[in-house]
Amino acid sequence: MTLHLQRIRSEFPILEERIDSHPLIYFDSAATAQKPQMVLDAMRSYFEHDNANAHRGMHVLAERATVAFEDARKAVQKFLHAKRAEEIIFTKNCTEAINLVARCFGSTLTEGDTVVLSLLEHHSNIIPWLQLMEERGVELRWIDIDEEGRLRLDQLDQYLAEGTVKLIAITAQSNVLGVRPPLKEIIKRAHAAGAKVCIDAAQSIAHEKTDVQEFDCDFLAFSGHKLYGPTGIGVLYGKKELLETMPPFLGGGMMIRDVHTDHFLAADLPQKFEAGSQPIAEAVGLRAAIKWLAQFSWQDIAAHDRLLLETAFASLKKVPGLTILGPQKIADDIAGCISFAIEGIHPHDLTDILGKKGICLRAGHHCTQPLHRKLGIVASTRMSFGIYNTLDEIASCIKELKGAMATFTK
Ligand code: ALA
Repeated sequence: MTLHLQRIRSEFPILEERIDSHPLIYFDSAATAQKPQMVLDAMRSYFEHDNANAHRGMHVLAERATVAFEDARKAVQKFLHAKRAEEIIFTKNCTEAINLVARCFGSTLTEGDTVVLSLLEHHSNIIPWLQLMEERGVELRWIDIDEEGRLRLDQLDQYLAEGTVKLIAITAQSNVLGVRPPLKEIIKRAHAAGAKVCIDAAQSIAHEKTDVQEFDCDFLAFSGHKLYGPTGIGVLYGKKELLETMPPFLGGGMMIRDVHTDHFLAADLPQKFEAGSQPIAEAVGLRAAIKWLAQFSWQDIAAHDRLLLETAFASLKKVPGLTILGPQKIADDIAGCISFAIEGIHPHDLTDILGKKGICLRAGHHCTQPLHRKLGIVASTRMSFGIYNTLDEIASCIKELKGAMATFTK
């Protein structure tokens, strides 16, 4: 069965939006995806009927809020195929989830230990590790990319052979090149060398099935808002035995078992890592997004993504003066987006012109300065896809892009 695009699009109210009478063409789902009505309704209904603080009261609304929050945790557990609900920690976003690993797992690392990253990472999966390097003297090693943006696994083997690698923190899908590293292979090699693996699933989460047991990853992080859910909620999956040995992250209400004036005892999982009032309505929205997405098969989602990628790629390839970054052919290990550079035209100027026509593309370094340095450019333009995008939208975008380019050469 293929996706019924017209029906899908009708469920996203924002797609009705007009920008100066132009229809909205949204090609920025890698930054944040749009939200279906079901997500908006679930959050509104929660506030209208159930709102209270979770895990903090005995009254009827507190009970409803607690059930709503914990039901969301169970939905995420099922979605990721985690063994246990307490392996799901709610955070503010993917970035906070990675910071949690860097701070808490990172506190078990010392000088001489190594963390391996790749040049495909975005800043969320770079800065926390640079901070760890500065604070604890942990070394960072970088897996380079080849000319098509794929990882040089021979380098990973070299690093692992040194015997000091404690963790590999790696993306499941580049937010610039769309490249998906061979994670199962990387995890197998890491575990054989005694290293743990933290997957940054920020981009892949809406494009492919994520099964943490099949990956056998130690940690996995993602944000709700790239999965057609709300902003303000993220998830860290961690293996129970690892999370249990890590110290708490933030301190505050609900992450405690017992508090004295001179010490405290941390709560059990997952509350140990969930200090303060939680994003309950956002968890409700995330649960609704997961439920909404479950009506489609991953096979259909991937096939649609592939069609969009192939169509955009073929059209962009024919534009004189435009260079597609990374892979020069669409293949199974690419998903979600295409980035490109145009000789003599700054991406900000280009996307500004297209934006006035209702076309939303992202321009800049996309929070990946090391990758852009490696590619020899400071900025690029990115076209990223969601389940609601159509081939007609790609055709309109390419037409306007050519028009915009012509205005620069006049
Ligand atoms: N990391 C997000 C992006 O690629 C924000 O746009």
